[in-house]
Amino acid sequence: MTTPERGGRFYDLPRISSRYLGHRHSGAAGPNHVMEEPAFLAELGSVDKLRVIDLGCGDATTGLQLLNAGCQSYLGVDSSASMVTASGESLRGTAGRVVRMDMEDFSAPPGTCDLVVSRLALHYVEDVESVLAACRDCLSPGGRLIFSVIHPLLSAYDSQSDGTRTSWVVDDYFSRGARDRRWMGGNVVWFHRTVEDYVGALLRAGFSLDSLRECEPAEARFGGEAEEFARRRRVPLFLLLSATRA
Ligand SMILES: C[S@@+](CC[C@H](N)C(=O)[O-])C[C@H]1O[C@@H](n2cnc3c(N)ncnc32)[C@H](O)[C@@H]1O
Repeated sequence: MTTPERGGRFYDLPRISSRYLGHRHSGAAGPNHVMEEPAFLAELGSVDKLRVIDLGCGDATTGLQLLNAGCQSYLGVDSSASMVTASGESLRGTAGRVVRMDMEDFSAPPGTCDLVVSRLALHYVEDVESVLAACRDCLSPGGRLIFSVIHPLLSAYDSQSDGTRTSWVVDDYFSRGARDRRWMGGNVVWFHRTVEDYVGALLRAGFSLDSLRECEPAEARFGGEAEEFARRRRVPLFLLLSATRA
């Protein structure tokens, strides 16, 4: 097994970003589409005229959605060169921008953003409290943060099964920290935290919690694939939190 890569560097390994984006955009076969996105959209509300920052933006599919929905500005942040290239292509001809950097180093002047989103990226970050504090600092009063992560029930332990899983194991749940994972054909580091840790980190960073969602699969998105819907109902894959700057 090769040394696991951290953060955006993982996505710059050969074939990883194309594999991830293929998976991400695979419709009913992709958990992002049937589980994470419905919860994200349900929490989002109107983005009209909002100034938005997206941490770990990937190919900026979210940016394009938000710009089409009327947000005033969109800035994607991602540390992977291949993802930054992909997001530049997605955002071509729009007012959206992307910057290549580690989100741990990101900051923006106080009150210059109304909405921070981060979809499935914060579990790559070790010091999540500092990132949340930077989000709070750049938000305008009443500004919001919505983020999703791999569900802590899944990041706790890896039973390393290849192919379609038929069972899941939860273990080492209260042992926080780095986990080496085989994922998308490569080795990556995820940081495991409990559900309570995520909520506590938000509160300590000066947010009030609006909503905690476990991204239950949305039947309407399965195109009638009853077996796949039943399979996705077995285990929560994602945790999504929505909060307001207190
Ligand atoms: C699972 S992908 C999600 C991408 C996108 N948000 C989406 O919903 O498709 C995780 C993304 O986070 C980025 N990433 C991981 N760690 C990062 C870090 N420390 N700073 C900035 N970006 C990071 C990766 O490069 C990758 O694009």
